[in-house]
Amino acid sequence: MDNTFRMINDHAVGELSADVIFRIAALAKKANSEYGSDQVYNASIGALTDDNGNLLINNTYYEVLKELPNVYFADYAPMTGEPEFLDASIKACFGDVEVEGYTEAVAVMGGTAAIKHVFWNYADDGDEILVTDWNWTPYNQIAYENKRVMRSFNMFTPENKFDVPAMEEAIETVLKKQKSVIVVLNFPAHNPTGYTPTKEEARDIYDAVAKLGEKLQDKKIILLFDVAYMDFAGDKGRDFIRAYRPMPNNVISLFSYSLSKTATAYGLRTASMISLSSSAELALEAKAAVTFSTRGTYTGCVRAAQLAFAKIINDATLRAKFEKERDGHVALVAQRADAFLKEADKVGLKHSPYQSGFYISIPCEDSMKITEALFEKKTFVAPMPKGLRIAICSLAEWKSAKLPAILAEYVK
Ligand SMILES: Cc1ncc(COP(=O)(O)O)c(C=O)c1O
Repeated sequence: MDNTFRMINDHAVGELSADVIFRIAALAKKANSEYGSDQVYNASIGALTDDNGNLLINNTYYEVLKELPNVYFADYAPMTGEPEFLDASIKACFGDVEVEGYTEAVAVMGGTAAIKHVFWNYADDGDEILVTDWNWTPYNQIAYENKRVMRSFNMFTPENKFDVPAMEEAIETVLKKQKSVIVVLNFPAHNPTGYTPTKEEARDIYDAVAKLGEKLQDKKIILLFDVAYMDFAGDKGRDFIRAYRPMPNNVISLFSYSLSKTATAYGLRTASMISLSSSAELALEAKAAVTFSTRGTYTGCVRAAQLAFAKIINDATLRAKFEKERDGHVALVAQRADAFLKEADKVGLKHSPYQSGFYISIPCEDSMKITEALFEKKTFVAPMPKGLRIAICSLAEWKSAKLPAILAEYVK
């Protein structure tokens, strides 16, 4: 640590480092204004935009929202969330899949709050929380802020399948020193690789975890499914829920279902944390603990945002309109991804096993060095510990097609 005089406490000093992705995005913005956007490849920030960089919005959601009486905006929501929103969120999250077990839901301020509250309620100070080695980097920050640490395990086998043995080994290792372990599983349409498990892979994951739960009966395993991109993964995206099988009582599944991407409601900070357990009491316990945390953090969530979503999910006509609009956005991302992947294969650029979602990744060493070298091509990507993240969600199709050749010059 340096000798700078600071008013903040020692634990807060780590919080001063600037977010590298936002720094790169600022450089891209500057390049845009200097050279014009046709010259600039900005694949750094994960927002779904049209070809001109304008945020894509689900208008049906906002039409319904704005028709709500003012009182729904002004009034507090119940601390646990609006009951019709909680039911609607379970319905929307699981889709046509009937899961075997008890479910409960609680409203939270976005998926980030679900993650924070789960880290807080299911781990102790200093505990390690498991995550795949390709991951959404803010997990680290959320863990740090709550006195927990992330520990990663290998995500893909050489055949690009989910590395179940690596996950098993990591769970066993951590449970040798902790009484419980949270495993963060961010799929379908994983950020930053676009990976979605097949039913078989998901079955292997559940079988492995159930076996560990049965073997280590005095330990607890918490599967935190961060399904932020669920509704961008098509029908196959829910195959991992179709593969679900009842788990022993010392294994609980928690789903963070956010309206940020689902309803393009990023700024409205609304999500549902859904618990799934073989025990009704343990499913309810999750809801009660997270409600308490909500009260102890920033109190209840935005009422109107919840009610608008519930209204849409419970009205067949509105729901069809809402989903049709979203399908258009999903198709746009798919076109961009197709263009990128086709060209990547042509120029021999290796990439992550992408199926859907906002990002494709390019495995490489020295990702920061390559990211900085790419500035000379007016190309802006996000460096990750294991490679480069390409935000195709914000890159026009013609740029997505041209980018692989540029990247291939730098990634050996
Ligand atoms: C993988 C992943 N999880 C969670 C989130 C959190 O989103 P929010 O808090 O807006 O729901 C994001 C947002 O980009 C994400 O990419």
